[in-house]
Amino acid sequence: MTKISLTNKVLTELPSKYCRIILTEDKANWHRLVETKDGQLEYRMGAGKRKSATARSYRTLVRSIVMAAKSHQLENIALHLGPMGCPSLEEKGSEWFFRTLAENLGLASYEFNKYKTKKKGGYELKEILVCGVNTPAEKRSFSAGLTIAESANYTRDIANTSGDDMTPSLLAKSAQSALKGTKAQVKILDQKAIKKLKMGLLEAVGKGATDGPKLIVIEYWGAGKPTKNDKKKAPVALIGKGITYDTGGLNVKPSGAMHEMHMDMSGGAAMIGAMRAIAKMGLKKNVVAVIPAAENSVSADSMRAGDIATSMSGKTVEILHTDAEGRLVLADGMTYAEKFYSPKVMLDTATLTGASLVALGQHSSAVMTKDKALQDKLVELGEDTGDLMWPLPLWDEYKASLKSYRADVSNIATNFARWGGCIEGGTFLSFFAPKKIPWAHIDIAPRMDSIPSDKLAKGATGEPVRLLVKFVEEY
Ligand code: BES
Ligand code: MN
Ligand code: ZN
Repeated sequence: MTKISLTNKVLTELPSKYCRIILTEDKANWHRLVETKDGQLEYRMGAGKRKSATARSYRTLVRSIVMAAKSHQLENIALHLGPMGCPSLEEKGSEWFFRTLAENLGLASYEFNKYKTKKKGGYELKEILVCGVNTPAEKRSFSAGLTIAESANYTRDIANTSGDDMTPSLLAKSAQSALKGTKAQVKILDQKAIKKLKMGLLEAVGKGATDGPKLIVIEYWGAGKPTKNDKKKAPVALIGKGITYDTGGLNVKPSGAMHEMHMDMSGGAAMIGAMRAIAKMGLKKNVVAVIPAAENSVSADSMRAGDIATSMSGKTVEILHTDAEGRLVLADGMTYAEKFYSPKVMLDTATLTGASLVALGQHSSAVMTKDKALQDKLVELGEDTGDLMWPLPLWDEYKASLKSYRADVSNIATNFARWGGCIEGGTFLSFFAPKKIPWAHIDIAPRMDSIPSDKLAKGATGEPVRLLVKFVEEY
């Protein structure tokens, strides 16, 4: 693991083992590794014109520094980055600047080596030393950024782990170890408890697997536990899809579309990561995360296409397609959160549909809500943190396609049409969403996997942990 730390020294005072990163105003693809006369290594990197820097280009620049260090197998690097001279970054303020710096150094230095016997021929980026973070406020922002990055990297570890090593009970264990030593409490409900609570959708999805379903609940009362009717202290509720492996069920996925489905708990893993960061930062906020966890497996005990299950809300659901399982477990998760926690706002995140990638490509998650203010907030925070969000409509017109003639609602369009599949997922959830508080559904399937322009390790991105933390701080 890369150590990221601060120093009060200036670049030129550092020991010679550090390769100094020197930014120039050349184009971003310009770079030279040079050895100065006194034997000092310098890596000169084009960062583009300072006056045209943006939040987006700044995040990419920070990540590029780390990626460049790795590609040149540099073990110790030192850098000094300040917002001076970049009008749009100065506008965002130094708190944002240094938090973003730490977040992106942390995210870019992450590697997933769990299953490698040889660790990259012995090379590792050992240390990033950061100069120029001086005032207590700057240091606090930087350290918050590191905590958030570590937590998002924890999320990535969970998501990158194979399905066999991250079953529902192992996911529950990961949640417990993520929050160990913090003030957050983790409760695990097993299959029996799920049955008793009449969470028939979570039960249906999980019943085909050897390791049965679990409901993972994480409570954090940073503002003090609310007494009954204490609406001011009502928590933010975060519901995350925790499908530890998605075969598609009896409507089994074709080869080529299944092997990455160990990441189908990315929504739940993001909630675990966000709760870890929130608890470690000691935010004075109340937050509850609910993660319905199950493996969507193929066996004689699996739910069948055409089965009808009764949700915790009492509504019956015709399971027309066993591969539309995420929405089923989330529906019960949302009802559970509403019933036991009376939250003031609810967000759910899920790798819900392949259709979200068809709509948006792989650069942004999709957000669906009827609350315009909440939508604007999420899009704004996406731009602010880098966990980009873009809205899709959640109009009542879409509801008609889910009208089942046998049950209250069907989990896919009854005519099997694939149009607007991402919205269809959100629309199904809207039948189970709380009616009296704002709710937003975030389909993070587009951001499940990193792409080269992210300048991150291959695999899970850890999104949208940064956004969730900021949301809880600001809502
Ligand atoms: N987990 C998948 C969605 C997914 C696909 C996420 C690709 C990330 C990458 C989800 O459970 C699923 O299978 N959705 C179906 C829904 C359909 C049956 C209505 C899909 O997208 O095809
Ligand atoms: Mn599925
Ligand atoms: Zn799924």
